[in-house]
Amino acid sequence: MLHQIVSHIARRWQPARLATTPAERRAIARLRYQIYVEEQGDARPDADHHARVVWSSIDDEAGTLHYYAGSPERPAGSLRVRVWAAGRAPADVRERYGLARIPGADRVAGCDNTFLMFRRSLRGTAAVAAMLSTAARDVVDRFGCHLVFATCSPGQLPIYQARGFRTYAWAIADRSFGLQVPIVGATFDLDHLKRVGSHLWRAWARHLRREE
Ligand SMILES: CC(C)(COP(=O)(O)OP(=O)(O)OC[C@H]1O[C@@H](n2cnc3c(N)ncnc32)[C@H](O)[C@@H]1OP(=O)(O)O)[C@@H](O)C(=O)NCCC(=O)NCCS
Repeated sequence: MLHQIVSHIARRWQPARLATTPAERRAIARLRYQIYVEEQGDARPDADHHARVVWSSIDDEAGTLHYYAGSPERPAGSLRVRVWAAGRAPADVRERYGLARIPGADRVAGCDNTFLMFRRSLRGTAAVAAMLSTAARDVVDRFGCHLVFATCSPGQLPIYQARGFRTYAWAIADRSFGLQVPIVGATFDLDHLKRVGSHLWRAWARHLRREE
C-alpha cells in the first residue's frame, strides 16, 4: 500500500520530458556519472572524471533524444533514445543488434534505448514506467518507430521481460556494461504486450488503432 502511494506520487511529481537545452543535457550527464561511476563503479570509457560527467559524441547526434524525469536542474532519472528511419540505422547499432539477421528490420523505423537510470529512491516506482511510456509514445508518434531495441544485463532481464521486451539473440560483450542481452519491443507484438501489461501497449495501442 505504501509502495503504491509512493509510486503514484512519483509519477505525478516526476513528469517525463525531452531534454532540449544544454543545461538539461549537462544535468543528465552528471546524473549518469553519479549512478554508473560513483554508485556502480563502472569503468566507463566515456566518463570525464574531472568534470564528473558521462557523455559521448553519440549523445550530441541529431537522432539522439534524452528523456528525463524530475526537475531540469536535478533530474531523477533519464533515458537515451537513438532513432533512425527505415534502412538508416547507424552502423554500430546495426552490428550491436544484428539487424541484418532480423527479417524486415530494415523496412521500418526503429530506435535504441540505452542509459535507463533512476535515482535509488525512485526505483521500483511508477516514475520509471511513466518515463518509458512517454518515450515510447513519442518515438511512435513523432518518428514512426516500430522496433524498440535495448540491451540489459542477464540479471535485469526479468525487469524488461515484465515490460514486454523479448529476447531474440545471442548475448554480447559490451566494453562498458559487461555481458549484455539484446531485447526488442515491437509494435506488431501488441497481443503479447497487452498480456504482460506492458507500458508499450498502453503507449502504443491507441495510436496504432488510429492508424488501422
Ligand atoms: C534500470 C532501472 C531504472 C530499473 O528500474 P525499475 O524498473 O524500477 O526496477 P528496479 O530497480 O526496482 O529493479 C527491479 C528488480 O530487479 C533487480 N535488479 C535491478 N538491477 C539488477 C541487476 N543489475 N542485476 C540483478 N538484479 C537487478 C532489483 O534488485 C529489483 O529486485 P526486487 O524486485 O527483488 O527488489 C533501475 O534499476 C536503475 O536505475 N538502475 C541503475 C542504472 C542501471 O543499471 N541501468 C541499466 C543499464 S543502462
